[in-house]
This record gives sequence, structure tokens and C-alpha cells, in this order.
Amino acid sequence: MPREWSATRAQPGPHLNLLAPEEANMVKSWNDESGDWQGLASAVQAPRYQAIARMIDRICPTGSVLDVGCGEAVLRDYLSNGAKYLGIEPSAKASDSARAKYACDFVLHTTGEDFDAAECRWDCIVFNEVLYYCLDPLALLGKYAKLLRSGGIIIVSIYQKPDNAIKTRLVQWLGRRRSISNARCTKMVRDLMVRDGWLIELDESIARPGSTEHWRIWAAKPRRP
Ligand SMILES: C[S@@+](CC[C@H](N)C(=O)[O-])C[C@H]1O[C@@H](n2cnc3c(N)ncnc32)[C@H](O)[C@@H]1O
Repeated sequence: MPREWSATRAQPGPHLNLLAPEEANMVKSWNDESGDWQGLASAVQAPRYQAIARMIDRICPTGSVLDVGCGEAVLRDYLSNGAKYLGIEPSAKASDSARAKYACDFVLHTTGEDFDAAECRWDCIVFNEVLYYCLDPLALLGKYAKLLRSGGIIIVSIYQKPDNAIKTRLVQWLGRRRSISNARCTKMVRDLMVRDGWLIELDESIARPGSTEHWRIWAAKPRRP
């Protein structure tokens, strides 16, 4: 029987072995000083949170939400007060900051790969500008598709900017934070949804204020096995 997450649950369990040992070490080399999660509660970023909150409101207004790589849990501010929200976040700084802001325990300090949901399931699982930081985005999507309740949705947001392969490789080499470019991640996610017959309910392009770039955001239902 699927369960709701409760703050009294134990902390995450053992590693789920989605990654080879050398890859797991790369995840552990997460750089908390990188700043990727800082300054996101801004007017420039607001449209993507608003778009995701609208999607949740439209498709599963009273459902539970799991925000994978939630940063400082900025999305929580855009959901209704009564929303059943859980964020998971590998940055100690960001998860501490989220907990301090809301003075409650709805953000877990762990990676998407390590998170052990046990028998809990969600109506909506969000990857908001996260997947291109992960070593194996498709394995993560596969893992979380299995954590949906019946009829549940996965929301993915990926910022669309011109692909600069040299810059991506340089950033990867310097910080080992970005495994792939946004463009490559977009293609991988789209191909997976089409190949595995996910029902794409919403597919929106949200303009970034003051820029020609945009966020591409999908809400999709994975096909049940
Ligand atoms: C650009 S920030 C987005 C934060 C948040 N989703 C938001 O939109 O406010 C990228 C986030 O991905 C998280 N992240 C990176 N690798 C991750 C992983 N393997 N599992 C879960 N989260 C990860 C980072 O810690 C960071 O908070």
C-alpha cells in the first residue's frame, strides 16, 4: 500500500546502486560552495516556479509533491499552504537554509540517487533545473517514475540556451559538477519520454525575463509497466 511521506520517517537508507562506485565518488565530491542553488528566489527566475506551480495546480491540485534537488525549496513558496511537499537536496547549505526558512523538517539532505523512499509514493515529482547536474539523468527518471502513485506526473524543467560544448567540458573539468550540457539533457529526456511512451500532458516554453532564452517544462505521465 503506497504511503505518504511523514517527517517522522527515518533518514535515507543505503545507496541504491544506480551508479558505479567511481561515479558515486563523483557525486560525493559535490561542491557546496558552487553556488548553483543560490539567488534563485528572484524575479528573473520566478516564471519557471510559477509555471510549475500552475501545472501542479492543474493536474494534481491536492496531491503530494516530491521536489528532487530542491535547492532552498523556492518552489515551496509557489505552492498552496496546505501542499504536501518534500524536498531532497544534496547541498548541506541549501537544505539547512530551506529548513531554517520554514522552521520545519520537510527537506532531506541527500542526493536523488541515494534517497530511499521505502514504500512512500507521490502524485507529482519535480526535477526543476536539476537533471543536467546528475551523472545519469535517465536512471534517475526511471527510479522516480516508479515512485509515482497511479496517474502521477513527473515535471521536468530544463533551461534552453545555446550549447557551448567547450564551455560545458571546461566547467565539467574544473568542478565536475555538470555531467552534460542542457541541450544534450533536453534531447535525452525527450527521447526517453517518446521511446517509453510517456503521456506528455503539458509542454511549455517559458521566457526568461530580459533574455531570448527560455525554460522548457514538461509534465508527463510515465507509462505503467
Ligand atoms: C540550479 S539548482 C536548482 C534548485 C531548485 N530545483 C530550484 O529550482 O530552486 C540545481 C540543484 O540541483 C541539485 N543537485 C545536483 N546534483 C544532484 C543530485 N545528484 N541529486 C539531487 N539534486 C542534485 C543541486 O544541489 C542544486 O540545488
